[in-house]
Amino acid sequence: MGKVIVVTSGKGGVGKTTSTAALGAALAQRNEKVVVVDFDVGLRNLDLVMGAERRVVYDLVNVIQGDAKLPQALIRDKRLETLFLLPASQTRDKDNLTAEGVEQVIGELKRYFDWVICDSPAGIERGATLAMRHADVAVVVTNPEVSSVRDSDRIIGLLDSKTLKAERGERMEKHLLLTRYDANRAERGDMLKVEDVLEILSIPLLGIIPESSDVLRASNIGAPVTLADARSAPAMAYFEAARRLAGEALPVSMPGEKRGILSKIFARRAA
Ligand SMILES: Nc1ncnc2c1ncn2[C@@H]1O[C@H](COP(=O)(O)OP(=O)(O)OP(=O)(O)O)[C@@H](O)[C@H]1O
Ligand SMILES: [Mg+2]
Repeated sequence: MGKVIVVTSGKGGVGKTTSTAALGAALAQRNEKVVVVDFDVGLRNLDLVMGAERRVVYDLVNVIQGDAKLPQALIRDKRLETLFLLPASQTRDKDNLTAEGVEQVIGELKRYFDWVICDSPAGIERGATLAMRHADVAVVVTNPEVSSVRDSDRIIGLLDSKTLKAERGERMEKHLLLTRYDANRAERGDMLKVEDVLEILSIPLLGIIPESSDVLRASNIGAPVTLADARSAPAMAYFEAARRLAGEALPVSMPGEKRGILSKIFARRAA
């Protein structure tokens, strides 16, 4: 059975979709079978970042409503054989996502894939709680600023109460992915420090992704950054996070003050 991961945040625009695509591709680059699932019904962005927008025929809601079978809706990545996308619909309303339907689809995906990575919509409403409901592991995407940290704290509360794992009295594995980190701004005190975010949220650190124009460039050509430019700083940070997600214990690289220089720090809390 595969592992179900939810990529969530509370606050919008922090890098969930970017991270879903990059982590999914990074795991597939290790030959793992991966499906990334877009739960952002109505907005739909993951297909764009994956470069598959023109190949969408059926979507998650079609499968739930029985208009299409799951294999008909899955889109295989053109670059990586083991990477698939289950797109969201752009036109339909979130209300078309039913709890039973989602349960069935996730259950089926878990049988075929090693990793089922769910890209959550922003907010703490139904779409977000449905995306997290069946997760084994949560990746909490947070920017080093107060409003993002506060929303992540609320999401952590929901992960510990509104998920199947929580209802069964089991522990939800949660990881912090700090994104859009700018070492120079942190140095100047314009951003929260890594230590401060870890102190507030108290969940183990999966990785620190630097703010970088490489991310925008990758999304403009429709490729996860780990595929578009595997040697770029954000790609290397995502590769590292994927290895940690797959269970490797390795130190978290801290984007350095000077460009290109990485100084190693150890995650302060073990998973
Ligand atoms: N590390 C980064 N460096 C620079 N820009 C980034 C980085 N990560 C994400 N971005 C940019 O930030 C914007 C929002 O990213 P993304 O769509 O992944 O966020 P999201 O959390 O999925 O948003 P939403 O809540 O709307 O779904 C995009 O323009 C993306 O290119
Ligand atoms: Mg998104």
